[in-house]
Amino acid sequence: MPFRFFAADPDSDDESSVAAPTTNENTSDPGDAAPFLPPVLHPLSTLLPTLPPNIAYNFAPTVPLLPRRAVFDTEMQLKTSDTQLSDLGDHDIRRRIYEGGLKSWECSIDLATYLSDTITTIPSKTLELGCGSALPSLMLFRKMLEEKKGGTIVLADYNLDVLKLVTLPNLVLVWGVHKGLIKGEEKGDFDAHELFSAEAFEKELKEAGIEVVFMEGAWGGDMNQLLGETVEGGKFDLVLGSETIYEPETAGRFTDVVLEAVVENGKALVAAKKIYFGVGGGVDDFVKDVEGRGSYSCHMVRDFKSAGVNREIVEVVRK
Ligand SMILES: C[S@@+](CC[C@H](N)C(=O)[O-])C[C@H]1O[C@@H](n2cnc3c(N)ncnc32)[C@H](O)[C@@H]1O
Repeated sequence: MPFRFFAADPDSDDESSVAAPTTNENTSDPGDAAPFLPPVLHPLSTLLPTLPPNIAYNFAPTVPLLPRRAVFDTEMQLKTSDTQLSDLGDHDIRRRIYEGGLKSWECSIDLATYLSDTITTIPSKTLELGCGSALPSLMLFRKMLEEKKGGTIVLADYNLDVLKLVTLPNLVLVWGVHKGLIKGEEKGDFDAHELFSAEAFEKELKEAGIEVVFMEGAWGGDMNQLLGETVEGGKFDLVLGSETIYEPETAGRFTDVVLEAVVENGKALVAAKKIYFGVGGGVDDFVKDVEGRGSYSCHMVRDFKSAGVNREIVEVVRK
């Protein structure tokens, strides 16, 4: 059954297992789709003033648990604001308008947990494409804070509203846990107005050598060019993507950006469903596309058999 953002039970804690994305039937013809949004960079300092004064949160079932903004809280803010995303109706995705980033999807939980299990050295340059709630990057951010290890994380999502309403608040919640301002593992409210100072947060990250940059807009050549303004040459040690290859029309663009952004001896980790029924993409098509380009190979590093659709994490490296 397709996930309906606005039909979500506001009191439900079960926000973790969003099923395969389904597109809005009314815009299933590429000819009808809106134009792609151009990529734009947003430094942390320009997004921090948009942080909501209070953030209702719960914990995603990653291992270890990660805090994230509760869906009902995002929904409430959206309903009272005047953005394109206030008008999503009951669609989980509206092609080229909203691409699903307001909730955390199953594979992001897989990838965040995988990173926690396997990362021994924190990469100095990480890019997460189609980040949405950004659980994989949050896991790295958590480790950076804990281990006092610097690095750059670029968080890219199609929608600026997703970056403002979900990605940034989630980053602040992870910091809140690290500082002991959020205690326990129950849902609650984080009083950002009282407990959070943008200035102090930025100062602390700077002292720790942690840089976070946001990017909105569509995958494509322009994005790689702009990524060159975030890290040298636009090249990253680690490129992450979760539930980003569901749509055949854009999966190739995603792959273009990934392969262009991975530094020679770096890698990409892509977590996705084996197949996205009713939408078309999936892991097999992605692997075929990457390997067909000649210079890269793919290895499945973890798989998840489930009653529904199987999920995998694929590592992409240069041959
Ligand atoms: C299904 S959501 C997954 C979000 C998140 N990674 C997760 O697993 O919870 C797909 C993500 O890919 C991004 N996305 C989809 N199509 C895109 C495109 N053409 N250009 C840039 N981003 C896109 C969306 O903004 C969205 O965050």
